[in-house]
Order: sequence, then C-alpha cells, then structure tokens
Amino acid sequence: MSFSQIGVVGLGIMGAGIVEVFARAGYQVVGVAESGPAVDAGKSNLAKSLARAVSKGKLSQEQSDEITARVSFGEDFELLADCDLVIEAAPEILSLKVEIFSKLDAAVKPSGILATNTSSLSVTEIANATTRPEKVIGMHFFNPAPVQKFVEVISTSHSDVQVVGKIVELGNSLGKHLAQISDQPGFIVNKLLLRYLNHAVQILDAGQATKEQMDAAMRELSGYPMGPCELLDLIGIDTCVEILKTIHADTKLEIDEPAAGMVSLVSAGAKGRKSGSGFYDYSERLDAPTDPNEAIKNQVHNDLLMAYLGDCIAMEATGYASKTDIDSGMKLGCGLPTGPFEVIESIGIEKVRAGQAELAQRTGIAAYQPLPF
Ligand code: CAA
Repeated sequence: MSFSQIGVVGLGIMGAGIVEVFARAGYQVVGVAESGPAVDAGKSNLAKSLARAVSKGKLSQEQSDEITARVSFGEDFELLADCDLVIEAAPEILSLKVEIFSKLDAAVKPSGILATNTSSLSVTEIANATTRPEKVIGMHFFNPAPVQKFVEVISTSHSDVQVVGKIVELGNSLGKHLAQISDQPGFIVNKLLLRYLNHAVQILDAGQATKEQMDAAMRELSGYPMGPCELLDLIGIDTCVEILKTIHADTKLEIDEPAAGMVSLVSAGAKGRKSGSGFYDYSERLDAPTDPNEAIKNQVHNDLLMAYLGDCIAMEATGYASKTDIDSGMKLGCGLPTGPFEVIESIGIEKVRAGQAELAQRTGIAAYQPLPF
C-alpha cells in the first residue's frame, strides 16, 4: 500500500505542523477541524509557518504556493473518506479521542490506517474504539513538528506488523528519525521530559528559584534551546498537566503529580503561548530569560540534571528503551545539544549516581535514589 492522501484531524499547533510536514514532503493533505474558526486557525498556522520559511529564504514563494495547494481544509469527516492514513491531533483527552476514532472508523475507507498523535494516552484504548484495531497506531510528533526530526511509532498488541512497517517507511520518507515503542504512558521522550518539567515547577513552587533562574540555568549550563518554563509554555501547560496525570496514574509517584504551579495557571486560562500567556506573557516579544545568580542556577541545574539522568539510566536498565533511542529522542525530538547517555559518559555514571543519592537525601524524596544495579 502506498500513501497518497493523508488526513489530519485537529488543526491546533501540532495538527497544523503535521499538515505542513506531509505537504512539504509532497503528499496531498486534508485537514479537518471541528469548527469554522478552528479550520481558519489551522490555515493561518500553516500560512504563518510557510511565510516564515519564505522570509528566511528557506522556501521560494513558488514552493510555498505548491505546498499550500496540496492542502485542503474542512469540517466534515466525510472529506477523509479516501485517505490512506488519518492522523488525529486533538487535545489530550481520552474520551474525545475515543469519540473521534469511532467517527473516523465510520468515515474512512476500510483500508485506511488511523494514527493518533497522543502524547501519553493509551493507544490500545483508542484502537478499541474502532472495528479495525489492527490498523490503529501511535505516530507521535514533536513541537514544532516541521522542525523536530523525531517521531515515536507506537504499536499495540493489536497492531498488524505490516501496518507498523508501512508507517515506519512513511516516517522515513518525511526525513524523520523514528523509534518504535510499545504502548506505555509517555512513551520514551514525554516520560522523561514531563518529569523534568514537573520537577522544575516543583522547585519553583517551593520558592527555591525563579522561572528566569531555572530557564537561564538550563540554557546556559546545558545549552538547551529553551528552559523548562519556556518549554512548558511552548508545549501548552494544559497538555503537560494531562500528560502528567496519565504518567502519574501509572507510576503513582508523588514526583509525577502535576505541580500546583502548573495546575493553577491552567485554571486561570494561562495555558502558554497558545493562550497568550503562561509562565511568561507573550503579548510582546520576549528575550531569552537570564539571571546573574550563579549559585542558584548551579544548584537548580544540578538537581534537574541529576534527576533526569537518573531517569534515563533507569529507563535503559529496565529494558524500556535503548540508549540510542533515548539519546535520539531527546536530541531530535527536543533539540537538546547532547543526548543523556552522551552526558552520562562525559560526567561518569558514578558521579550521576552520587548526585542522585545526594538529591534524594537532601530533599527526602526516595524516588530520586539510584536504582540498585
Ligand atoms: N514552525 C515551523 N518552523 C519553526 C517554528 C514553527 N513553529 N518555530 C521555529 N521554526 C524554525 C525556524 O524557521 C528556524 O528554521 P531554520 O533553522 O530553517 O531557519 C528554526 O526553527 C529555528 O527557529 P528560530 O531561529 O526562530 O528560533 P530558535 O532557534 O529559538 O528555535 C525552537 C526555536 C525550534 C522552538 C527551539 O527553541 C527548540 O527546539 N526548542 C525545544 C522545543 C522542544 O523541546 N520541543 C519538543 C517538546 S515535547 C513535544 O512536543 C511532545 C509532546 O507530546 C508534548
């Protein structure tokens, strides 16, 4: 089976980004959203992203026009009938995704593959909402989708191996680096990333550092493209809270409970860039946050890094994912300059273990203890 027409349901930042990825790679794309304004927002997201590429000289106006001409938009699921693959990129709410998949199952031709871009929810439960669970798969892109080169392909116990193979082939044709993972909450990258982001807000909530100190620490001392609060704003704080709830329901660890500072921002409607404010206010252009307090930055950097590297060591040691997939995911999915195992190699694993133990002892949080292997 070859893919000629691709559907995307949900045209927020991720959905519109996925539309762009496929249209840029030469596929015909149908973008569907639930309302006229949501369709308009998707069109506008695509237009802005292409205009940015044209203004930077990365695309000619002619190429941009060709990409735009490959995409059609609408509100009706019937528009997706002939799609070989439909990717759902709706908000991270299981009941909503289940409802969408049941509608997709009725609307899309029987040979069509249905994929979810869920960040952490059970692909199996989503597949169960259809009469074709063997053709339902997770295809998890990273924000901004046109920029980040990593995609997680999630299979379930129902998945047809040929379907998985086709999706891997398709992902490669998009120029993405793929990792295959089974259906586990948070998959590879979000399981690590969300705990790190939550840890940062827990430090903030405890008054141990400011958001500027935390963001500057990770940018300046680890060379991350964004600090944790900036990244929460980019992803969407509401989305991050939902992902953490799913991870927490699985691990039951207090460190995975969404931090109060995130929950209260979401309650106030401050969801990050998409709502105009989150940890930061986006009504005007912001400079990268900086802060001269080196002692606090060093402490915060040490704590966030040791906990995160410890999680990576545990993820690999328990057979959840390989070092290569973890390193690729964090570099190509989140734009980090080095993968965690490259960092561990340069620091030395014994120093990381000692750092974890010190963090556990100082905070009294046993979950930071290194695992006994
Ligand atoms: N759409 C398309 N292209 C974009 C873009 C967007 N929204 N934002 C930036 N770009 C492109 C720019 O055009 C530019 O392209 P060129 O290099 O070809 O010129 C490039 O990205 C760099 O952009 P800028 O110079 O404007 O900005 P920057 O250097 O500060 O980079 C960034 C911006 C790419 C967002 C970078 O800060 C970054 O990688 N941040 C980390 C983002 C991250 O971690 N994402 C993963 C989040 S987790 C997730 O998404 C999964 C989930 O389920 C929650």
